[in-house]
Amino acid sequence: MTDQPYPPARILGIETSCDETAAAVVEDGRVVLSNVVASQAEMHAKYGGVFPEVASRQHIRTIYSVIDEALSEAHLSLDDLDAIAVTRGPGLPGSLVVGVNAAKGLALGSGKPLIAIHHLEGHLYSPWILDHGDSLEDKEEPSFPLLALLVSGGHTELILMKDHLSYERLGGTLDDAAGEAFDKVARLLGLGYPGGPKIQQAAKEGDPAAFKFPRAWLEDTWDFSFSGLKTAVLHQVRKLRAELGEDENDEGVVLPVADLAASFQMAVVDVLVTKSRYAAQEFRAKELLVAGGVSANQLLREMIVQDTPGKVHIPPLYLCTDNASMIAAAGYHRFVRGQRSSLDFDALPTWPLDELV
Ligand code: KG4
Ligand code: ZN
Repeated sequence: MTDQPYPPARILGIETSCDETAAAVVEDGRVVLSNVVASQAEMHAKYGGVFPEVASRQHIRTIYSVIDEALSEAHLSLDDLDAIAVTRGPGLPGSLVVGVNAAKGLALGSGKPLIAIHHLEGHLYSPWILDHGDSLEDKEEPSFPLLALLVSGGHTELILMKDHLSYERLGGTLDDAAGEAFDKVARLLGLGYPGGPKIQQAAKEGDPAAFKFPRAWLEDTWDFSFSGLKTAVLHQVRKLRAELGEDENDEGVVLPVADLAASFQMAVVDVLVTKSRYAAQEFRAKELLVAGGVSANQLLREMIVQDTPGKVHIPPLYLCTDNASMIAAAGYHRFVRGQRSSLDFDALPTWPLDELV
């Protein structure tokens, strides 16, 4: 016997906005029944970033087997689902359309409701989801008002959430996103793609105070800028190479890569943590939420918890980078409010979060 008055709502999530083909089944926006992610990272590594044509072709190849796997791991069929949620945008046009069309086909064939989801809304709902082995009692839901720091490969945003599905954008990056800066600096240091995990790994052996890299505080705004920092790392690398007599094309053989990575990582995290903490105070947010690929960063996870007096909600590590559980979780909150999408919507490669209703 369960003391819940209704059976749980089971949503199939589908995500193909970038280079991950993902499908998942999540109960009540919190309990993962399956989470399948087919990453293309290795295919794109040789290009040093995502190659859009390769990404869409690969999504077409894998989407149906990824969905089948998600259903079979959850021991469910399409009939057992309550709805299908899919990423509508923002993202790469040729990638988004593969997930959107697959979701439409499944919704049409099964008669299940379809819900279009904003990719960033998905990230924002990832901290509601339980980690492996956690039970609902172990993990409290975030409560409002909360200040969200969304840090991914394409976005760095501070968002005030006063309630479910309500987003007030306070500020964001004026140039590079935090994840993008990690990726570009990793390339510069010859560490490869995706840059975030590689920088984090290299930084373990380094001194975060070895180089004094600039922090763009952009006072009196809630905006960020990381391009100056990236350029400062570039200049430092050139200076070191000149001193060491190294060629531009040498892949950092004798460069102090660990110190450079650690100092860069500290500069990014310092700004993210400090500005989030001030914004939470200013807008009287009770709690803080961090999401997006960069929320996997260990230093960010540690420093934001240390420096914040209130509760901090961070997704489980396996749900920081792109996945479909977060799309299903966001879909759940729209589903229970009676929201449904018609079958004739198009993918939206560009879609500001403020325009979401
Ligand atoms: O959210 P996500 O998977 O994709 C987008 O929606 O953009 O974020 C990917 C980004 C990449 O830039 C990647 O380098 C970064 O997240 N990332 C990290 C870490 N893991 C992934 N950045 C810093 N530290 C990490 N451990
Ligand atoms: Zn993402």
